[in-house]
Amino acid sequence: MHCPHFDAGECRSCPLMGVPYGVQLADKEAAVRARLAEATDARTHWDAPAASAESGFRNKAKLVVTGTAAAPRLGILDPRQHPRHHDGTGVDLRDCGLYEDGMKAAFHAIAGAVTAAGLEPYDVAARTGELKNVIVTRSPDRELMVRFVLCSADRLEALRPEVPALREALAALGTPAAVVTANLHPEHVALPEGPEEVHLAGDATLRMELNGIGLRLRPQGFFQTNTDITRRLYATAAAWLADAAAEGGTPVERAWDLYCGVGGFAFHLARPVAEGGAGVAEAWGLEVSAEAIEAAREAAAELGVADRVRFTAGDATTALAAPDGTRPDAVVVNPPRRGIGAELAGRLEESGVPFVLYSSCNAATLATDLTAMPSYRVARAQVFDMFPQTGHAETLVLLTRR
Ligand SMILES: C[S@@+](CC[C@H](N)C(=O)[O-])C[C@H]1O[C@@H](n2cnc3c(N)ncnc32)[C@H](O)[C@@H]1O
Repeated sequence: MHCPHFDAGECRSCPLMGVPYGVQLADKEAAVRARLAEATDARTHWDAPAASAESGFRNKAKLVVTGTAAAPRLGILDPRQHPRHHDGTGVDLRDCGLYEDGMKAAFHAIAGAVTAAGLEPYDVAARTGELKNVIVTRSPDRELMVRFVLCSADRLEALRPEVPALREALAALGTPAAVVTANLHPEHVALPEGPEEVHLAGDATLRMELNGIGLRLRPQGFFQTNTDITRRLYATAAAWLADAAAEGGTPVERAWDLYCGVGGFAFHLARPVAEGGAGVAEAWGLEVSAEAIEAAREAAAELGVADRVRFTAGDATTALAAPDGTRPDAVVVNPPRRGIGAELAGRLEESGVPFVLYSSCNAATLATDLTAMPSYRVARAQVFDMFPQTGHAETLVLLTRR
């Protein structure tokens, strides 16, 4: 795959652009295997890496808005300038090949709404203007969540009247905006969004249906960016656990999903084995984002499993802290890049939990965490190419007791 922005040196988001996809995938698997060399052995079963489409796979766009209200650019700040001395010039990436089908046309409609509302893009150098970013997420049903990240509430009343026309335009493109919000982000910091979300139109959540399970996503909740790979990741985790439980004759009644986001792993584990799940009777998800937990609870209610798939907002590193607490039969951990850390790894090591599924976007921290859990062995492992065109990959491992 080739990209004019990469060739021109004006976007560095895809360092592997131009490297044949098969080579990317083989290199990633080799790199992950090398990282995990000490934690794995000859008995570890490596499933073939899960390949992604090499373009059109991204369901989420975080677009920095530059230029003017009359001619906005949606993309990134020019990476050829030093961040501290940036003059605010942007590169328009509406035609970026990573985004899913239909998103590019939606970006043009959104730019039209920016112009109609007269929203001046935020100028990072002068610290003037209002609109910082536009964040768009597309569901598998082609529905969109559109979020305008504004410096303040001052221009909300200019944006609000343009939302119905934007929704009409998006619906006509076949990508209806199920959720439209404004995110208020007053600080001058590199984070893409701020703490306050103002609902402008549509529903409170976007429906993300994966493998027949209707997940729910709120504006500030995390969702994996490659829908097809995510679908396979969740299904694989459930299948491995079901297989391991059947092989070992170890029933898996209770599972915990730590760092659960909107509950993707928990819902898949709680499905009957005959439907591709792990047949877990009770699942419990723990996640720091209250918004994600609300969305997970909503999905549980809608799926009719709220009595046995429960969610709590809280810190996953403190899970398994109570010495006399209930012990699950399986734990899924899917932390951010920093990994689960020594504290939770130590608790899992001590816990006696028979099965751990660790889904990691950083093989380096995965390797470190595994060294802190020596009584587990990596029974099964697979690389999932969540991030084509980059050196990053998701790795799923199934840990069983030695
Ligand atoms: C890689 S995401 C995984 C989310 C989810 N498992 C999924 O498949 O979408 C990591 C999640 O960990 C959450 N998180 C970060 N630190 C946490 C902590 N200390 N305790 C609980 N959740 C945390 C983030 O909010 C984010 O939702």
